[in-house]
Amino acid sequence: MELFELARTIRARDPARPTWPEALFCYAGLHAVLFHRLAHALWRLGLRGLGRWVSHLARWLTGVEIHPGARIGRRLFIDHGMGVVIGETAEIGDDVLIYHGVTLGGLSGQPGKRHPTIGQGVVIGAGAQVLGPIRIGKGGRVGANAVVVADVPPGVTVVGIPAQPPREAATGDAAGGGPTKGYGMPAGPTDPVGEELAALRREIAALQAELRRLRPSENGE
Ligand SMILES: CC(C)(COP(=O)(O)OP(=O)(O)OC[C@H]1O[C@@H](n2cnc3c(N)ncnc32)[C@H](O)[C@@H]1OP(=O)(O)O)[C@@H](O)C(=O)NCCC(=O)NCCS
Repeated sequence: MELFELARTIRARDPARPTWPEALFCYAGLHAVLFHRLAHALWRLGLRGLGRWVSHLARWLTGVEIHPGARIGRRLFIDHGMGVVIGETAEIGDDVLIYHGVTLGGLSGQPGKRHPTIGQGVVIGAGAQVLGPIRIGKGGRVGANAVVVADVPPGVTVVGIPAQPPREAATGDAAGGGPTKGYGMPAGPTDPVGEELAALRREIAALQAELRRLRPSENGE
């Protein structure tokens, strides 16, 4: 029975190690998934208005908004739940963990596939925004508050805005703190503002040199 499968997942994955009654009665994410099963079934039966209403009721009761058209795999654990939004064409594989404040949203105003596809076993940190018809590969991890607008390969962690793999610790070929090939980052500096400032400084120095050459009298010559 799915209720117990979801509760078992919560007990296994939440480090707070809740009791069975806690897992069954005190996790809004569990209730949101169960409501979604009903809303999705109604949606597929063509009872779209009713499906929407069930999803609206679930949002009101749990703080989690899942469009009835979204396709969700087994054992989804939405921890804390509040503020989670999952769009109509989102697809979520088995054993995914999503924290509060996560959006699986669209960027396009056009109908059709416009929400992300989340692979099996993915973890999406609190407040992360995953936008567009992109794919987070199996076992991928999205850091808290990241904004993801491009595919994430299987097993890869991304953080920041726009989300990218984090820099590797300064060991081995990363000595000096630079990014490494191991994380799929380009070699060399990745500070565009710093690079721009350095280029401007070089340009100013060249102009000053040119000015000095053109106005020798000001140099006391
Ligand atoms: C992304 C995440 C999975 C990475 O965990 P990890 O593999 O243990 O990685 P580390 O903590 O070693 O961090 C690696 C690098 O990424 C950076 N980083 C980690 N999480 C980040 C985030 N959310 N945003 C920006 N940078 C982050 C670290 O500062 C470190 O940078 P550095 O290499 O320049 O020093 C984890 O930090 C995260 O954000 N998990 C979500 C947790 C969450 O939402 N909890 C809510 C509970 S209520």
